[in-house]
Amino acid sequence: MDLLEAIRKRKTTNTPFRPERISDEHKRLLIEAASRAPSHFNSQPWRFIVIEDRERIAQIADIAGDSMKRLMDEGAFVARYRRYFRFDAEESMATGSGIYVDNVPAALRPMVRLVFSEQVGSLLSKFGASTILGNDQRKIVRSAPMLLAIALDRQEYRPGELSGLYASITLGAVIQTLWLVTTALNIGMQFISTPLEVAENKARIVALLKIPETHELVAIFRMGYKDPSVARNTIDWTSNQRKPFTELARYNDWETPLPEPFASARSLLWGDGGAPAEP
Ligand SMILES: Cc1cc2nc3c(=O)[nH]c(=O)nc-3n(C[C@H](O)[C@H](O)[C@H](O)COP(=O)(O)O)c2cc1C
Repeated sequence: MDLLEAIRKRKTTNTPFRPERISDEHKRLLIEAASRAPSHFNSQPWRFIVIEDRERIAQIADIAGDSMKRLMDEGAFVARYRRYFRFDAEESMATGSGIYVDNVPAALRPMVRLVFSEQVGSLLSKFGASTILGNDQRKIVRSAPMLLAIALDRQEYRPGELSGLYASITLGAVIQTLWLVTTALNIGMQFISTPLEVAENKARIVALLKIPETHELVAIFRMGYKDPSVARNTIDWTSNQRKPFTELARYNDWETPLPEPFASARSLLWGDGGAPAEP
């Protein structure tokens, strides 16, 4: 797969993977490729934990499911992230951002906007959405052949200081490398962020993975070979939309829009048809 094809095809996989393990060669390639990422003074502040032990994956899955349910029941998830949710195609197209919740059980559909907008915690619990999402999260993590955790050296990762910014930048480079290489290998990849958003649950995972004090757990992903035949999740979303490049970029200074013919240049990424229609 060439680079542009990998960039075009890269996306979050939030459905189950094929059950087989990722090959040792592919696992090695992922770590070696990630390690080619740039880092401040070549500090390489990242360490990777490849998790294939079923018992440990099951425990992390339980923690992930519990985290999702708790964040939703407490209203924290929706309060924090409500502004990213889109509930119809027009809104999704118009903003060019966020996640478009396009797949909702019929019983929940009439409620979904309301649920995500007012008195969220109690309504979510009442209509069972937090239980559905918590269970989906637990099941999806539990079924993954592999989890990958990334920890950053605390000497480099000092939030609030320059080194914190630099460590975050190199972490992003590592993650994008992983994402492009997995795409090329037909491996799916999904962030599992919610367990790291509940302090005590994050501590449980840190203990489970025996991450030392010297390092901070910063990201967990599930990975496995993609299975194109699987059904979508009970409540599901798409997020393929992107803002037009003319909105994202300015020319020479912040106030100047891209001039012609740059603004109308042919897209080498998408070809003459332009970016794919959304959703
Ligand atoms: C820091 C960060 C945290 C994320 N956490 C989650 C997550 O917990 N669950 C998930 O499914 N996707 C997560 N994502 C993925 C984004 O939702 C996704 O990249 C975005 O919606 C664009 O979709 P795409 O990756 O398919 O292009 C995260 C992405 C980033 C950069």
